[in-house]
Amino acid sequence: MITPVLLCGGSGTRLWPLSRKSYPKQFVHLTGADSLFVASARRLSGAGFAPPVVVTGSDFRFIVTEQLLEAGVDPGAILIEPEGRNTAPAVLAATLRIAASDPDALILVAPSDHAIDNPDAFCAAVQRGVPAAQAGQIVTFGIAPTHAETGYGWLELASPAAADPVALRRFVEKPDAARAQDMLQAGTYLWNAGIFLFSAKTMLAAFQAHAPEMLIPIKQSIELARADLGFLRLDAGAWAKAPSISVDYAVMERAANLSVVAFAEGWNDLGGWDAVAREMGADANGVSTSGAVTAIDCADTLLRSDSDGVELVGIGLKNIVAVAMNDAVLVADRSRAQDVKRAVEVLRAKG
Ligand code: GDD
Ligand code: MG
Repeated sequence: MITPVLLCGGSGTRLWPLSRKSYPKQFVHLTGADSLFVASARRLSGAGFAPPVVVTGSDFRFIVTEQLLEAGVDPGAILIEPEGRNTAPAVLAATLRIAASDPDALILVAPSDHAIDNPDAFCAAVQRGVPAAQAGQIVTFGIAPTHAETGYGWLELASPAAADPVALRRFVEKPDAARAQDMLQAGTYLWNAGIFLFSAKTMLAAFQAHAPEMLIPIKQSIELARADLGFLRLDAGAWAKAPSISVDYAVMERAANLSVVAFAEGWNDLGGWDAVAREMGADANGVSTSGAVTAIDCADTLLRSDSDGVELVGIGLKNIVAVAMNDAVLVADRSRAQDVKRAVEVLRAKG
């Protein structure tokens, strides 16, 4: 049995105005019938998976229960973080909780902000990683890179021709543009899908070796945790003492026992509007539309109205992203879509 750990405490600011502080992208309907969180929970609820441990923020706890119900998934536990401190504390808290009843338990950490086209193929890839995880490896899932992406982790294969899982030589989290270009050209790297398979005791040993300062605060936050309406509220005082860092920087970049299973069946980190447009599909002119929109003589453009009352019309647009909501409209050059994150910071500062 594999216990999924569903991470869903991120704020998804690059998909503003659809993704909001109080209702981030993993819970909204971006593409398809289900939210990304519902799709992730469902994907990891079939044969071979134990009930998931969900780690999220207090503001999202009722969205999580509602969406788990929608997915038909009964959680093993829902851990509530006193505040978001990135993914390392979240992964460690869930691992400690699972290790308390079974240190050999296999855990699959899954972000909830991805679209995976073929869930069965994905579950088969997970199964291919099981022997390596049982043998003490942290198994990552690798995607063939298509461009010099700086927003992902990159996985350098030790021996590119070998059948998977393959040992990793190196894990490089979010490189700068020049380094990403080098890695793309080298041909010996895959993108990190952000999904990890390991045994509880392997991950605890990795934190002990590479981020020991996290262990005491996170252990305490669990020991002092308070049960509340079916949620487990981690202790705020202890939690605040843990560094705010991603598991990629805290552990993956430093660990030597890494393997990768290649996954080539359709994966999209819906990290920005450009990626969402790709997932939505486009007409022959590269125009992606959703909701009450009209496009006249447009090309390579995303037009999306997520508002019942707003008709969005684009004329002669090229390389534009336009998203209309009831209370906010985004219009951006498509090549600058990642800078929506900056706009959110500016808006927050305005209050
Ligand atoms: N519970 C909790 N608490 N979840 C969090 C927190 C937190 O403080 N911060 C982020 N998450 C969740 C997000 O909701 C998302 O589902 C997942 O953890 C990953 O966090 P991101 O912030 O989206 O990470 P990233 O996209 O920048 O980078 C990661 O994913 C890439 C692929 O999508 C890394 O693993 C990269 O190496 C990887 O390539
Ligand atoms: Mg992400």
